[in-house]
Amino acid sequence: MSKIKIEGGHKLTGTVNISGAKNSAVALIPAAILCDEETSIINVPNISDVDSLEEILKYLKADVKREEDHVTINCQNMTNKCIPHELSSKLRASYYFMGALLGKFHEVDMHFPGGCSIGKRPIDLHLKGFRELGATVYEKDDHIIIKAKELTGNKIYLDIPSVGATINIMLAAVKAKGTTIIENAAQEPEIVNVAMYLNNMGAQITGAGSNLIKITGVSTLTKAIHEVIPDRIEAGTYLIIASLLGENLKINKVIPNHLESLVSKLKEAGVNMEIGNDYIRVNKVNEYKAINIKTLVYPGFPTDLQQPMIPFLTQCHGISKVEETIWENRFQNIMDTIKMGANIEVENNKVAYVKGKTPLKGENVSATDLRGGASMLICGLIAEGITVIDNINFILRGYDNIVNKLKEVGANIELID
Ligand code: EPZ
Repeated sequence: MSKIKIEGGHKLTGTVNISGAKNSAVALIPAAILCDEETSIINVPNISDVDSLEEILKYLKADVKREEDHVTINCQNMTNKCIPHELSSKLRASYYFMGALLGKFHEVDMHFPGGCSIGKRPIDLHLKGFRELGATVYEKDDHIIIKAKELTGNKIYLDIPSVGATINIMLAAVKAKGTTIIENAAQEPEIVNVAMYLNNMGAQITGAGSNLIKITGVSTLTKAIHEVIPDRIEAGTYLIIASLLGENLKINKVIPNHLESLVSKLKEAGVNMEIGNDYIRVNKVNEYKAINIKTLVYPGFPTDLQQPMIPFLTQCHGISKVEETIWENRFQNIMDTIKMGANIEVENNKVAYVKGKTPLKGENVSATDLRGGASMLICGLIAEGITVIDNINFILRGYDNIVNKLKEVGANIELID
């Protein structure tokens, strides 16, 4: 099945259960390589990015068992060999194998990671961190080789608070000799989830979630069972959908304070929400007002919810300004949104002005990337008539069981060939 067909305009009511966070699970699974015993991760989302990581671990002869949302991994007998392009290019997060294999074997040989075309996706800060821990990094043809006689703790300043670089350096430093300090570290909740997993194995990491993380190297990491935190971006996506179509729609299994920036912007637009300790319930209203959004690193407004917010803004009275400050190419979904009737102007690919309230009509459209695909799906849910979205593999990379989750609360949505 390669397309999603939606008949828009159906109210949504009932409960949507949020799965484990993609951007946490894709780091936790490679991190398991560092464990010297068997280890388990629970609440793992059923998404193709996790399938791709499982494939890489099995390629490296690690022992991986996956039953529903449980993954059990034993890397005691794994081999360290070059990860080929067809595996590493399936997702951006394959880069976590760099930090994990370097931390365990002091040597990595792998082709470059993949990922959505939302920007250049450099990894210079990851490599800077590895070098400052004592590794040499060189590229041969189109793969990268990182080696270290030994890894020694160091003070590493991140020019940009990069999520990936923060986690990757943590993975490489956790068994290094001495202490590593990461300055200007990213503060996303997924980083805390990974640090807690490593600490459960016996690592000594403090400060995760702040801009200064301290890692004191240890020699062994032992058995640990760890849970993936709820996916704040999946939850935010459903919260936006609920604001548009929800009648007593409950978004369940969330951590509300991971969603504070989105909740405050939706409230500013006029959305009324009941915030529970692990859920948010929404009853849509028909009159929302335009708001301005500027994407920032956590705890600012998340760039991953910028694209899902666009359909919501088309339904807000007035002109909303959307500034994307993290990625240089994250408005690819705007073209097809305009094709559905939206009134949007984009200024040098950095700022979008969305004029509302504009009714959308069903069209044949494409997913351009993961969150752009989610944005088109939301457009289809509110549009009049039928919308067919192709290239939906982008969407299935990051949203667990999204078609059934929406069907169960009343959407007229199905997978088609
Ligand atoms: C993570 O990507 C997420 N992906 C992204 O989510 C998310 O958009 C991003 O963080 C920002 O929150 C995963 O966790 C797998 P960064 P990552 O390193 O780690 C620049 C989704 O939709 N940069 O924080 O790749 C970079 O160009 C995905 O789920 C460098 O310059 O993002 C960007 O401008 C999309 N050099 C900024 O930093 C580097 O070495 C933030 O990137 C690394 C990054």
